[in-house]
Amino acid sequence: MKLLQDKIMQEGIALSDQVLKVDAFLNHQVDPVLMAEIGKEFAARFRAERITKVLTIESSGIAPAVMTALELKVPVIYARKRKSLTLREDLYTEKVYSFTKQEESEVSVSKKFLFAGERILIIDDFLANGEAAFGLARIIEQAGATVSGIGIVIEKAFQPGGDKLAAAGYRVESLARIASLGEGSIVFADERQHQSV
Ligand code: G4P
Repeated sequence: MKLLQDKIMQEGIALSDQVLKVDAFLNHQVDPVLMAEIGKEFAARFRAERITKVLTIESSGIAPAVMTALELKVPVIYARKRKSLTLREDLYTEKVYSFTKQEESEVSVSKKFLFAGERILIIDDFLANGEAAFGLARIIEQAGATVSGIGIVIEKAFQPGGDKLAAAGYRVESLARIASLGEGSIVFADERQHQSV
């Protein structure tokens, strides 16, 4: 998605060869015009999947997920992250380990909002190792619902998440794919638009 690539080139900062800082438009300050375009793009790509709900994870997935759900005219749920839980019986819960942050969090969604037979689109801001997306997929599968697609705003293609999700049979669409990062350099890879087989 050219608009997103241009924004990353203008306002993204490669903090190291591993981490891209995009707090000017996605992770802290949010650009609503860009988010609206991202929502339209994901909706166009996944409309044929007859999505019934969008699922993301707090906090930075919420903006693109809401704009996508607005276009698809379906509700959006954001999974909550918390260290300890008191009301487990009303929640679908999965552990998610972040290699980037080196911490494990417990991710949960209320059973009130996710049902068997639903067709769920996962949206997230970043894809690195795929742990968050796999955790959300396990929650969807716990509910007896279907993962109908995974939409990622920025995929770090030099990390294994995208390939692992595709190998597991999920349809992954990333709007920007980063091939490599270096001091002062951001190199894009071709977009991922593969279909599960
Ligand atoms: P994974 O789910 O693909 O395995 O990713 P990982 O655990 O490595 O990432 C954990 C957190 O770090 C996520 O945010 C993710 O968005 C973020 N992250 C990973 N790589 C980058 C990067 O290069 N740049 C930026 N800006 N963020 C990155 P989170 O903990 O869920 O936080 P948030 O959603 O509240 O921002």
